[in-house]
Amino acid sequence: MRDITNKLHCFNILCLTFFPTIAFSVDTLTSTQSLTNIQTLVSSPAQLFELGFFTPDNSRWYFGIWYKKIPVSTFVWVANRDQPLSNPSNTFKFGDQGSIVVVNESGTIFWSSNQTQGVNPVVQLLDTGNLVVREESNADNYLWQSFDYPTDTLLPGMKLGWDLDANMDRYLTSWKNPNDPSTGAFSFQLDFHGFPEIFLWRNQERVYRSGPWNGLRFSGTPEMEPLDGLSFEFANYQHKVYYSFSETNASLFSRLIMNSTGYLQRFVWIESSQVWNLFWYAPKDPCDYYNSCGPYGMCDTNASPICKCVKGFVPKNLQAWNMRDGADGCVRNTSLACEKDKFLPLNNMKLPDSTTAFVNKSMSLTECQEMCLKNCSYTAYANYQITGQGVGGCVIWTGELLDMRVYAEGSGQDIYVRLAASEIVLHESFGDKGVCDGSTPVVPVKV
Ligand SMILES: *[C@@H]1O[C@H](CO)[C@@H](O)[C@H](O)[C@H]1NC(C)=O
Ligand SMILES: *[C@@H]1O[C@H](CO)[C@@H](O)[C@H](O)[C@H]1NC(C)=O
Ligand SMILES: *[C@@H]1O[C@H](CO)[C@@H](O)[C@H](O)[C@H]1NC(C)=O
Ligand SMILES: *[C@@H]1O[C@H](CO)[C@@H](O)[C@H](O)[C@H]1NC(C)=O
Ligand SMILES: *[C@@H]1O[C@H](CO)[C@@H](O)[C@H](O)[C@H]1NC(C)=O
Ligand SMILES: *[C@@H]1O[C@H](CO)[C@@H](O)[C@H](O)[C@H]1NC(C)=O
Ligand SMILES: *[C@@H]1O[C@H](CO)[C@@H](O)[C@H](O)[C@H]1NC(C)=O
Repeated sequence: MRDITNKLHCFNILCLTFFPTIAFSVDTLTSTQSLTNIQTLVSSPAQLFELGFFTPDNSRWYFGIWYKKIPVSTFVWVANRDQPLSNPSNTFKFGDQGSIVVVNESGTIFWSSNQTQGVNPVVQLLDTGNLVVREESNADNYLWQSFDYPTDTLLPGMKLGWDLDANMDRYLTSWKNPNDPSTGAFSFQLDFHGFPEIFLWRNQERVYRSGPWNGLRFSGTPEMEPLDGLSFEFANYQHKVYYSFSETNASLFSRLIMNSTGYLQRFVWIESSQVWNLFWYAPKDPCDYYNSCGPYGMCDTNASPICKCVKGFVPKNLQAWNMRDGADGCVRNTSLACEKDKFLPLNNMKLPDSTTAFVNKSMSLTECQEMCLKNCSYTAYANYQITGQGVGGCVIWTGELLDMRVYAEGSGQDIYVRLAASEIVLHESFGDKGVCDGSTPVVPVKV
């Protein structure tokens, strides 16, 4: 039997705005039941999340999910973000072909999950924050789930990335502004090509990239450390490539969001002080911005200017470079001679854009170098993973090296860059670290 609980009505604006007044004490609706604008579903058994209608500005109504347990209103999913309802009287229910729909008072559909092919479907809000449609008799097999259609928030257990069999790409898109859930300009989307990594986009423009996953963390987030109670996963299979995190301590709440002004933020809820604590964000410094030093440039926040050319490369546009505009990057000082070339090791690096790189997980570093040397258009190689037992594998870059940066000692990774053999001899003699800022003339020494 359904038990409908009447809660205290609250009449101040804020209360009306965010919190509907009647909550079902249930987490599930069957195909003959519906939810009106003043009713909500509450996940069970822990009652962590709530599903219902809300209005951030008292003029547009949305249907979505927020934390029930957390007093600061925090929305994690919005169904009709780009089709707001203009009146408060709306209904959530089952539509045709097992779909779930949001309709206004005259029955116009504002959002639909589309067909789910359920025979006897129910819709349930889980304690993970996932809204699922499933057969009543089967609790484990979802016909549809909100986790496959993220808004701006990644919750524990959600997968950010691709399921190529289902042709499904799950990515985060910002709200337009903190009071407007409609699709904003920023997104965080995994590119499965090459050596997969995640890009932050502003419309069609790349802003930041995570760097590829090196077995421990993203190459571009050396500060990413396993946190007590949180663990991170990156799956890279032939047909499934995704990033995900999970909570190993049930009393911890953490979420990753693509915010409306273009930053990724990870928050952790602090129970004792009742606030969302900002745990991490990006981009953080000038070197995080995509390709700020151009091809074959390396960005180093500890240097001035922050852009350097890789040894053996010189600024393409010296005048702009000297004006601290690194965008044109660097070009080779000495042309390559293919099989006679050598490789210059660079340490503590954020690996370059690896969309056009390729990976062989079973090759050793020596085999990797041999293979890289064979083809003149291969520009660099590195280990695929740097974890304990997993050290090894091979990544080879096939074009210009973009968006590299240098980290503090012990933070980044090693990459081996193809250079004409004469350049290697030249630079080895300095015992230097493979960087050249182009403005200081390099005086060759006799060896
Ligand atoms: C429902 O939405 C339709 C389409 O926007 C609109 O024409 C109609 O007036 C709405 N009904 C109510 C009661 O708001
Ligand atoms: C349902 O289908 C419509 C029309 O093809 C599409 O615009 C909408 O995004 C779909 N809804 C979901 C949740 O995929
Ligand atoms: C989970 O986190 C809470 C609060 O931080 C802490 O008191 C508790 O000991 C943790 N439990 C485990 C199993 O780590
Ligand atoms: C987005 O995140 C950045 C970095 O934490 C922060 O400075 C900014 O205020 C955030 N924007 C909004 C709208 O919260
Ligand atoms: C460029 O190469 C020439 C020799 O070909 C060498 O003398 C010069 O120092 C190199 N410049 C840089 C910046 O590496
Ligand atoms: C990866 O490298 C191994 C060892 O050299 C080789 O046997 C294998 O064919 C390579 N795989 C691919 C897909 O190139
Ligand atoms: C060298 O690599 C390029 C780029 O991946 C490829 O198009 C070309 O076929 C390769 N050449 C040889 C001889 O393998």
